[in-house]
Amino acid sequence: MNIVAFPMDCTIPALVKLSILEEETSDIYVFLWCLVTALRSLQEQWQNTPPNWVRRDPCGRRWEGIYCNESRVIEIILPGTNLAGPLPEEILSLSELQTLDLSNNRGLTGPLPSSIGNLSNLVSLVLVGCNFSGPIPESIGSLQRLTHLFLNINHFSGNIPHSIGNLRNLIWLDLSENELDGTLPISNTTTPGLDMLLNAHHFHLGQNRFSGELPAELFSSRMTLIHIILNENQLNGSIPDTLGDIRTLTVIRLDRNSLSGSVPQNLSMLTSLNQLYLANNNLSGPIPDLTDMNLLTYVDLSNNSFDVAAGPQWFETLPNLTTLMMENTRLEGNISTAMLSLPQLQTVVLRNNQLNGNLELPANISSSLRLIDLRNNSIDGFRFGVYNRSRLSIMLDENRFCLTPEAAGICNTSQPLNYFIPLENCAPLPCFSDPTSESECTRPYLGNLVFRSFNFSDLENMLYYAFLADSLQPFLADRVPLDRVCLTSAMIDVNGFLVLNVSFFPPGGAYFNRTGISTVGNVLNNHLYESPYGPYYYTDLPYTAFPERTINTGLIVGLAVGGFVLVVLTIASGVYAYRQRKIAQRAAKLNNPFSSWNEGNVPQLKGAKWFSFEDVQQCTRFFSHESQIGVGGYGKVYKGKLSTGELVAIKRAQQGSLQGALEFKTEIELLSRVHHKNVVNLIGFCYDKGEQMLVYEYVPNGSLREALSGKSGVQLNWMRRLKIAVGAARGLTYLHELADPPIIHRDIKSDNILLGDNLNAKVADFGLSRLLNEDKGQVTQVKGTMGYLDPEYYMTQILTEKSDVYSFGVVMLELVTGKMPLEKNKYVVRLVREAMMEAGHAYDLVDPALSSDTLVGMEIFVKLAIRCLQDMGDERPSMSEVVKEIEKMIEANDLIDEIESTTTSASYDGAREGGHPYSHMYSSNSNVSFDSRASSPFLR
Ligand SMILES: *[C@@H]1O[C@H](CO)[C@@H](O)[C@H](O)[C@H]1NC(C)=O
Ligand SMILES: *[C@@H]1O[C@H](CO)[C@@H](O)[C@H](O)[C@H]1NC(C)=O
Ligand SMILES: *[C@@H]1O[C@H](CO)[C@@H](O)[C@H](O)[C@H]1NC(C)=O
Ligand SMILES: *[C@@H]1O[C@H](CO)[C@@H](O)[C@H](O)[C@H]1NC(C)=O
Ligand SMILES: *[C@@H]1O[C@H](CO)[C@@H](O)[C@H](O)[C@H]1NC(C)=O
Ligand SMILES: *[C@@H]1O[C@H](CO)[C@@H](O)[C@H](O)[C@H]1NC(C)=O
Repeated sequence: MNIVAFPMDCTIPALVKLSILEEETSDIYVFLWCLVTALRSLQEQWQNTPPNWVRRDPCGRRWEGIYCNESRVIEIILPGTNLAGPLPEEILSLSELQTLDLSNNRGLTGPLPSSIGNLSNLVSLVLVGCNFSGPIPESIGSLQRLTHLFLNINHFSGNIPHSIGNLRNLIWLDLSENELDGTLPISNTTTPGLDMLLNAHHFHLGQNRFSGELPAELFSSRMTLIHIILNENQLNGSIPDTLGDIRTLTVIRLDRNSLSGSVPQNLSMLTSLNQLYLANNNLSGPIPDLTDMNLLTYVDLSNNSFDVAAGPQWFETLPNLTTLMMENTRLEGNISTAMLSLPQLQTVVLRNNQLNGNLELPANISSSLRLIDLRNNSIDGFRFGVYNRSRLSIMLDENRFCLTPEAAGICNTSQPLNYFIPLENCAPLPCFSDPTSESECTRPYLGNLVFRSFNFSDLENMLYYAFLADSLQPFLADRVPLDRVCLTSAMIDVNGFLVLNVSFFPPGGAYFNRTGISTVGNVLNNHLYESPYGPYYYTDLPYTAFPERTINTGLIVGLAVGGFVLVVLTIASGVYAYRQRKIAQRAAKLNNPFSSWNEGNVPQLKGAKWFSFEDVQQCTRFFSHESQIGVGGYGKVYKGKLSTGELVAIKRAQQGSLQGALEFKTEIELLSRVHHKNVVNLIGFCYDKGEQMLVYEYVPNGSLREALSGKSGVQLNWMRRLKIAVGAARGLTYLHELADPPIIHRDIKSDNILLGDNLNAKVADFGLSRLLNEDKGQVTQVKGTMGYLDPEYYMTQILTEKSDVYSFGVVMLELVTGKMPLEKNKYVVRLVREAMMEAGHAYDLVDPALSSDTLVGMEIFVKLAIRCLQDMGDERPSMSEVVKEIEKMIEANDLIDEIESTTTSASYDGAREGGHPYSHMYSSNSNVSFDSRASSPFLR
């Protein structure tokens, strides 16, 4: 006998302990078990999962968005696919997962479960632009391999956990645009902190609510940061001079905080710096000296309280400066003419200062200069030679000069800055916006590329966009079928970010499939593509044009049932289960409860027909001996054939076990309301000539007890047993949760589980059933069958659905052991419990009839049974939970069958098939220079 043991929690140590298989095989089985559990929970909890997630093996036959290596899911990449729902705990049992990218699914909500820390192989966690909330769990610090962590644009709150300092391999940390608060965590002798992230290149923490000071300890010369982005927080105190020790820095954004004090002198040591944003703080002291920071392109020091001073020398010496923003910084003195000749200069904003003297445009004024904003200064005069007014705007309003006659046509001409530029480099296809011709049109995928820093300010220079599109397009086209990438507009948004509207066109007038959309999203938000402009993120407009029809996501459940065709076995006698105990005598005084029926009210019964005694006599050939298929304490069971040809089983109560008319009526009313494929269907009844008979559908393969005892000739392998268990459990779930009114069976046992065609289980015999509403709670007389009886019910006489769960647990153990619950004074429940306690398993008790079988999931089945057999009803699972658990076992068996039948196939490694890139452009220890901006073609 092969027993395949699955650990309940999908952890590897548990596997080693429980497995009695060769390690390698069982490893795969365990993996599959976990896979099924995890992916099914995704399916159950998410809306809009890909329609092809109905196939059996997610790895062998590629589910969209799921990438495997040797039957292990290593990547889940589903950005931009309209997923909605919480992130289920179970996904976190995919311990081999390396990439989880769910960006731009705004319907994904709820917290990031703390068990995220179990994904010890995770390299990239990309959840940009979802709707997650709650704290970032402390356990994130366990993800030792993590290099890319993107949680930006969600609703995370609380502090950054100190444990993040344990992520020694982290390269990108992006927590921007959340609701995080508190101080930035720093390490001490006992606790880690952000300062320990020595391999990190990117701290993107902007647009949160971080407060307190920027600690000096946060920065050190051992760090290799290239971007520090902390804009729009509530940081105070001064800028620590340790910032000047990180010589690798190319971008600093500290704007829109409450920083004060003077800017540390040694910032000028950052000679690699491209962009410096210190605007909108309370900085004081001298204007920082930026001499020798020759790579600076974009400097924004606006809205600070620096000491009153003339425009500093460095204005004139920064060769690559494109943008100088020093609004409201208490500048005085003349405007440097030399600065206006800087060759790359595009934008100079010196508004709201005290600049005076004359503005003189130099003869060699930069041809790229687009704007000089000097509004609200004390400029006396304006000297200019020839300049192209359509290219260069000069804004001089609110200066002394404006009071002079020469100012005519120069002042008061200020137009608002044109921050929105429609781009025409790539016109959309003609029918793109015409919804009526949707089907013939190419459906582009639209989104925004948002740059948090950039090295130019001339949005009208089309070369920038052409360059971006020209480098992005081939990068994507290697990975996605793609016609072209178009940038359709550019603007600076309220945060000072550059927002480029982008359209991705699928080839050949077609649609993108999910894989296409998700690959675009992953390439961008996981930063597989490095832009020439610096850090960016990507948000999209939900793509609704997926080509396939949306299929309801009920899926795997159906799988378990389908495709399992049994050879119809020799039909043994279809004996009905019978009551082993007489129904106790009734105290009730009986009126004739049928009187109203006789008056024609029978149709209250849904579908149950009234049969006359003669009808029944005829269809059983006068109750002939040949028609008799069983006998029980209360009477005989006959097989009959109705005039329609339908086979029925007729239970005929014998004298002495007739029920009171009231009971009989109750039973009929009850049974006639119940219609489910796993519950025996009542066709009609006979209450005539002093007889009581119930007419049921005929169930051909006898009872489960008969099958287990070998009497009926039905062979029950493990898979069939699981299917019988799940069928019976579904029948009970129906009675408990879906029947109206709900019903407690009260006498679940293997005799009362009948086997129909294909061994479909049907729950039978509601002799003891009572409507849940009427009868829940205290009962006067405990009823049931010894061996199956819920001890809690027995002792308290309080009846709940959980009593059926107990009895069902006993049936589950019958399925495993083949034994009757009470056999030769041995109580099978006790035997199994003892075995589990002593040996940790129940292998010795397994039914010998299963000895040649592979018992996939047996462990879990037994543990589930034991949960059903808890003494306290509250601790037992519900029947619907039982159904779900058994369904998973069936799926695991299916998967394994499939694998066994295709073990030679090498196709399980589907991951590379789609050409999906595993690796980042950066690996954690690379010394790759990130600073392509330094050699950007725009600045030459
Ligand atoms: C796939 O698995 C094999 C064996 O476990 C391993 O050697 C290989 O590196 C894996 N490939 C990827 C891309 O993870
Ligand atoms: C985001 O989640 C919150 C609850 O956490 C919910 O109220 C809101 O509707 C969600 N937004 C979207 C777009 O789903
Ligand atoms: C998985 O995560 C949970 C919750 O954080 C934790 O209790 C459990 O120990 C973890 N399991 C492993 C194997 O790390
Ligand atoms: C280290 O920092 C943690 C968190 O800020 C704090 O609780 C702890 O007291 C500190 N330990 C020492 C030795 O300073
Ligand atoms: C910074 O803000 C915190 C409150 O967030 C306050 O307690 C502290 O005194 C402030 N420090 C300075 C230097 O203003
Ligand atoms: C900066 O300017 C110098 C001199 O004009 C030039 O040689 C260099 O290429 C520029 N650097 C960048 C990054 O454009």
